[in-house]
Amino acid sequence: MKRLLSVILVLTMVLAIAGCSSEEGPSTTTDQATEEIVIGANIYNFGDNFMNGVVSPALKEYADAAGIKINIVDSENQQNKLNDQVDIFIGQGVDVLAINLVDPASASTIIQKAKEADIPLILFNKEATEAGAMDMYDKVWYVGTASADAGIIQGDMMVADWKANPSWDKNGDGTVQYVLLKGEPGHPDAEARTEYSVKAFDDAGIPVEELAMQPDPNWSTDGGNDKMATWLASFGDRIELVICNNDGMAFGAINAMKEQGVTIPVYGVDALEQALNHIAEGEMNGTVLNDGKNQAKAVIDLGVNVASGKDPIEGTDWTLDAVKAVRVPYVAVTPENFADFK
Ligand code: GAL
Ligand code: CA
Repeated sequence: MKRLLSVILVLTMVLAIAGCSSEEGPSTTTDQATEEIVIGANIYNFGDNFMNGVVSPALKEYADAAGIKINIVDSENQQNKLNDQVDIFIGQGVDVLAINLVDPASASTIIQKAKEADIPLILFNKEATEAGAMDMYDKVWYVGTASADAGIIQGDMMVADWKANPSWDKNGDGTVQYVLLKGEPGHPDAEARTEYSVKAFDDAGIPVEELAMQPDPNWSTDGGNDKMATWLASFGDRIELVICNNDGMAFGAINAMKEQGVTIPVYGVDALEQALNHIAEGEMNGTVLNDGKNQAKAVIDLGVNVASGKDPIEGTDWTLDAVKAVRVPYVAVTPENFADFK
């Protein structure tokens, strides 16, 4: 009996060990080489519908396709939290850091950490605003857009539509009375979009009057809804145009207008699926594709290269500008072409 028990025990152990090793699966040398690449990444706020809805899933898809690992954490809109997350990633020995800054004026803190740990760093979506930050380290790059282009494209679209629709000038004074939902103050995208969308009217010789402009650190639909409801109550019929620096806030504005039964021309940026639906329904006049999928692709492409000690853009179609940035182009999305972006 004792003997039988020990035989069973040995058998069980052998099976258990066999089970364990078979769970690891067959691994070849090539698998191991690529599996070794781990990217430590964050999104500044999982509550952001563009970053969390488009960029984050695309990062995972492209990482899967490249056969590498990416860990994405939520910085909950707190730069201190992100600083700690970077320390943890460094402690874990990740091969690359892919960081979406919370505070664009705090890039140097992150760059310094990466430099001290000698880990390549790719900043994405929110460009560093401190002068010289990108020169602190030879292994830091940026993936994003040329922020001003979204404003230029959106502005040109609005000018063309304004000229084609004389009835939009409700009070007939030849001036565009607008409200503007800005997004995060100090964010290069929010600042440049604000400046360049309005500048398009100046350049076209069309006078503008800003009735109100409101920042929103979360770029949120709720914020857009609240502000638009307030503006409709205070300005009513005087609002002739609603300029939104992203679609998320535009959705809120559209909702507030629906509740009041009013329609005012409204434009966004990002070209989220819901924006395309609003354009199809005639509830939104235009948006600008913020190509989050290709930004994610560029992050992974560069990440794989730098983790392998290669030139960041080797074997890719990306180009780096003078400040080590890959800039994915924006595209105008109108009632004429929106179906192409579905
Ligand atoms: C912008 C985008 C916004 C928001 C922001 C967050 O590029 O258009 O919707 O996601 O980034 O940093
Ligand atoms: Ca007017």
